[in-house]
Amino acid sequence: MTTLSSTPPLTDATPPTFEGWRADGILSVDDLSDADIAYLFALCDFYAPFVAAGAPPPRRLEGKTQVNLFYENSTRTNLSFEIAGKKLGADVLNVPVAASSVNKGEALVDTAQTLDAMGAAVMVIRHGERGAQARLADRLGARIVNGGDGAAEHPTQALLDAATLRTAFGRIEGLTIAICGDVRHSRVAGSNARLLARLGAQLRFVGPPPLMPADGDFADAPRFDRLDDGLAGVDVAMALRIQSERMDGTDAQAAAAGYFDAYGLTHARLDAVAPNAKVMHPGPMNRGVEIDGALADDPARSLILAQVFHGVPMRMAVLDAVVNRGA
Ligand code: CP
Repeated sequence: MTTLSSTPPLTDATPPTFEGWRADGILSVDDLSDADIAYLFALCDFYAPFVAAGAPPPRRLEGKTQVNLFYENSTRTNLSFEIAGKKLGADVLNVPVAASSVNKGEALVDTAQTLDAMGAAVMVIRHGERGAQARLADRLGARIVNGGDGAAEHPTQALLDAATLRTAFGRIEGLTIAICGDVRHSRVAGSNARLLARLGAQLRFVGPPPLMPADGDFADAPRFDRLDDGLAGVDVAMALRIQSERMDGTDAQAAAAGYFDAYGLTHARLDAVAPNAKVMHPGPMNRGVEIDGALADDPARSLILAQVFHGVPMRMAVLDAVVNRGA
């Protein structure tokens, strides 16, 4: 599924270290220095061959407890963090939020402090409120990794997307990347726009004006409301799901009406204006809404499963870095 440019020997391999690691956790891509990001890429490159080969990596989290606390639904983020932690030897607990004392009215801070008191070394938290994890940062001993907060940030998605682009293109600097669709309600778009611009990509946003970033956000990136104009000459088209859970019902219906005809990514549209472009989608995708199923499934065009693959080694990198702090 994923072609790795080099495959180091897996026996006796030791992961890279970085004395300069400072981030106590990862709440935002902005928490990471350029050197931290480079270290995460190096760790991801180290772990990717183990994941690809199904070989056991060094057990860098042996004896540590990792808690996954997800207040919103997830397949990719929750399960890839679970796989990543288990591969590194952590004791991984997935909190069954719907069956927990959250249902008795327990506040996030009390649930998180309870898990902290049980000895969690790292907590991966997804929550519907913007900044929910940041409000816990001074209250917990555990490292906090943001698994998505409202429409604000999804930093590990941006990191794995960047890792996917490095593998596919050998670089990020100079790539022209169109982020297409519901940018306004997308935490993936926010984190990717920050990270990929920092790494030298040329970003643009494409979609209906009501779904574009708020005025003043990402002001340097051009915006297009016609898909063909926005896709012209791009290297990458990144489709986003319409985040209907963050709209009221009528807005969601209005956003979905006629959406595929105007903004759905298809072979024909890309062939006409960006014949070499690759497509990405963070998932979950809605086939026939933001992307045609045949395009999503086309291995010559689609990086979607490569994104899923990179989620495991990049999240191994994140867990290793925040728990071991580069040592
Ligand atoms: N990309 C992403 O966050 O997917 P999940 O909601 O399935 O975790």
